[in-house]
Amino acid sequence: MNFPAIITEKKLGHPLSDEAIATFVRGAADGSVPDYQLAALLMAIRLNGMDARETTTLTMEMARSGDMLHPDLGGMVVDKHSTGGVGDTTTLVLVPLCAACGAKIAKMSGRGLGHTGGTVDKMESIGMRTDLPEDEFLRQVREIGCAVVGQSAELAPADKTLYALRDTTSTVDSLPLIASSIMSKKLAAGAEGIVLDVKVGSGAIMPTYEGSLMLAQTMVEIGTRAGRHVSALLTGMNEPLGSHVGNRLEVKEAIEILRGESAGPLLTVSLRLGAQLLIASGLANTAAQGEKMLRAALEEGRGLEKLRQLIRAQGGDESVCDHPQVLADAPVIREIISDADGYIAAMDTMQIGYASLELGAGRKKKSDIIDPRVGFIVNARIGDHVACGQPLYTLYAADTDSAVRAEHMLRIAIHLSDHSVPPEKLLYALVTPEGVQTL
Ligand code: URA
Ligand code: CA
Repeated sequence: MNFPAIITEKKLGHPLSDEAIATFVRGAADGSVPDYQLAALLMAIRLNGMDARETTTLTMEMARSGDMLHPDLGGMVVDKHSTGGVGDTTTLVLVPLCAACGAKIAKMSGRGLGHTGGTVDKMESIGMRTDLPEDEFLRQVREIGCAVVGQSAELAPADKTLYALRDTTSTVDSLPLIASSIMSKKLAAGAEGIVLDVKVGSGAIMPTYEGSLMLAQTMVEIGTRAGRHVSALLTGMNEPLGSHVGNRLEVKEAIEILRGESAGPLLTVSLRLGAQLLIASGLANTAAQGEKMLRAALEEGRGLEKLRQLIRAQGGDESVCDHPQVLADAPVIREIISDADGYIAAMDTMQIGYASLELGAGRKKKSDIIDPRVGFIVNARIGDHVACGQPLYTLYAADTDSAVRAEHMLRIAIHLSDHSVPPEKLLYALVTPEGVQTL
């Protein structure tokens, strides 16, 4: 099929045939269609959308563009995926906790995308390997109950090409492109149970509740049709989820939570998602029961022990579990002080994410090298009162220049009000094949 004709169809807003979609995906996976034609079609899809049939076909073609794993690990294999956030380290909290409760988690994670951080970058920041071959990946899940790897060339290779092109062509925020990207990887990796964390708010790919709900429903429907147990939680991203942003800093916060020294919204959301994973695994019947199991694993130190095993199995330095404070170190450390009194009314979370990129915690170009040391701690949340002179952030930078640039971005990302403001909503809704339950 002639590729410009496919671009023309979508440019005019017409649905693409299954054959046209297959040509597109094959071209992305094997390199036979040049990037400029793929990018033109991505933009046409971004602008004109896809219907349910097109989105399902796109997802299934992408899933089949490489190997399809069928792990047989003597139990339900489950996976979790987030649409991406800032200070969003739920994986490093919930994977050890769920594995400590007996779940089998074969997780495929991403690198940072746009303003959001990625689990693979965080793991590499403490020396963990994320490129395990498939047999080693599955053996590790069998032995310790969990493994977390990056996207391999063998699984959903079409997404690897399209993800990188979208990041640099302003075509990330498209419902069919997000749904197919996430679900193709989950289906190819073979998880029987899938839990999706769909973010809502100023730091989310789909900022509005309505857009996020449609995305969640689309992904649940695609996964269910493919025979998987799928649920999605809609969770708040109007402010960073955890207080730490940056790769080693986020690992530090996850360890402090598992050590019982920290809590807050990051733990709350991790427990909710973890409970859904235990339900999908057949280990819990209700969310309340699942949360109770996870809290017991936390309190008894079994989550921390499992994280140690995970770090060791993937070649990282497990001693950080005993001394997380060593993960907060950079050449330039400074406080950013509030220059006024007021209540924190809003945060531009996307801008906060971009400030971490400015420090070197993420990539502005595909070839950028991440600095694992840099980032910041956000010392206040929406609804908090701050006094003039009180620290808003603690910044960790490689040099003074980047610290100054990030400070400017971080300052304008916080909006103060004279009037008191309620805290942010954390949990919006649970989407399952049975319907939407507002939380
Ligand atoms: N995560 C993904 O894997 N793909 C997207 O498109 C967005 C978030
Ligand atoms: Ca992610």
